[in-house]
Amino acid sequence: MTTFIILAAGKGTRMKSPLPKVLHPVAGRPMIERILKTIRAVDQTAEVRIVLGHGIQLVQSVVEPFGASVFIQDKQLGTADAVKAAQVNNISGNVVILNGDHPLITSEDIKGFIQTFQELKVDLGVVSCLLKNPGEFGRIVRQKGEIKAIVEAKDASSDTLKINEINTGIYVINGELLSAILPKINNKNSKGEYYLTDLLALALEQKRKVATIQTNPRVALGVNCQSDLARATKVAFKKNVDYHMENGVVVIDPKTTYIEDSVKIGSGSVIYPNNFIRGETQIGSFCVVESNCFLSDSVLGDSIQVKSGCYIERTEIQSKASVGPYARLRPDTVIGQDAHVGNFVEMKKVRFGKGSKAGHLTYLGDAEIGEDVNIGCGTITCNYAVDRKKYVTKIGNRVFVGSDSQFVAPVTVGDDAVIGSGSTITKDVPAKALGVARAKQVTKENYVSSTPAISGGK
Ligand code: UD1
Ligand code: MG
Repeated sequence: MTTFIILAAGKGTRMKSPLPKVLHPVAGRPMIERILKTIRAVDQTAEVRIVLGHGIQLVQSVVEPFGASVFIQDKQLGTADAVKAAQVNNISGNVVILNGDHPLITSEDIKGFIQTFQELKVDLGVVSCLLKNPGEFGRIVRQKGEIKAIVEAKDASSDTLKINEINTGIYVINGELLSAILPKINNKNSKGEYYLTDLLALALEQKRKVATIQTNPRVALGVNCQSDLARATKVAFKKNVDYHMENGVVVIDPKTTYIEDSVKIGSGSVIYPNNFIRGETQIGSFCVVESNCFLSDSVLGDSIQVKSGCYIERTEIQSKASVGPYARLRPDTVIGQDAHVGNFVEMKKVRFGKGSKAGHLTYLGDAEIGEDVNIGCGTITCNYAVDRKKYVTKIGNRVFVGSDSQFVAPVTVGDDAVIGSGSTITKDVPAKALGVARAKQVTKENYVSSTPAISGGK
């Protein structure tokens, strides 16, 4: 049985942000959510305790769905004090201690730590790695190859500072040992804090077996400021793009392709540079997403073309449809199979039938459009009325809507009807009828007696 403790009570002062540090998103997901999801991938049922000190209410709502229990550390008196806040007296089994601001850790990393800990048959495993620039990290001091001390950078001599092996702040420890030695940690050091790193010295004093567990520098990447956050985000996006490329997605420029974790893309699809694909978006196979598109929580079938400059949110696009360039598809829109949505077309809450076309400069909102309908250029549904309510426009199958027409909702047009260009339709049009609603043309013969010269300019 393993218990996980996540330390996340630090103020995060260097983030200079009103948002609690662990809620800052890395590639679309709060850091703490990433870590919890990772832990759940290691162990569905393990007990997870998270130590918080700031923005508790906000963080609580993110951690509760993962079945983690929240413990509060009122004053940030150091990492050992934070573990104490998680009430570890009488804890049994093994305990994995992690930091809330290490968002790049994977379930394979954690499984590896637990496995190594068990294979080495030790009571304390300190997860360490080698860094070119070890900076502020605690240094691992060895004697005859064995770990003998962890020295905080602030307390280290210039020789110790030259050591490249650092403490990641992640530990695997026997629970009984943790409850026994945690109360013995004092705050007699340069920072006046209770250092969790003292676990090592106390375990050695009690002649318990200790060892380091080696890991990748990626695991040590802690987020302390906005630029760390951007670094972590870049790594997370790169990992996602690599994953999709490994699965047969053509990514023309991985550096400018931003794909969040839960996105799914079918093989044979092509993603042009400079796209942001987020949330629960699913893209089928053989789709093409040209440059400068933002796709959010949308579902695209197979063989769909999204041309440059589209903004698509909570929309379903069925197979072989084409969209854009410069289309805006807003929530609750469904674009049918083989349909075409052209440039400068906006849709909101629309069911747009199979094979229908709206090629140019159109707004459709709260509308049900049948199959094989032609929506002429400049068509508008006037869905919002003076009573501040929205009304529905219904257009049947095979309707031909001439350009520059408006539908003042609620209004219904039957199958196979024709709407004359420039009409403002306020009354229902039955099936197969022609609806025209525009001023009659007046033509005055010989109206202009002579054509005056245009003044100014050449
Ligand atoms: C700690 C380690 C250091 C290691 C580094 C790795 C100690 C004394 N030092 O240093 O050896 O190289 O992590 O990142 O442990 N926290 C609390 N309550 C507190 C203090 C901290 O919850 O009172 C949490 C923080 O939110 C953070 C984690 O503990 O998630 C680490 O704290 P931090 O202050 O960053 O420790 P470091 O000084 O970096
Ligand atoms: Mg730190």
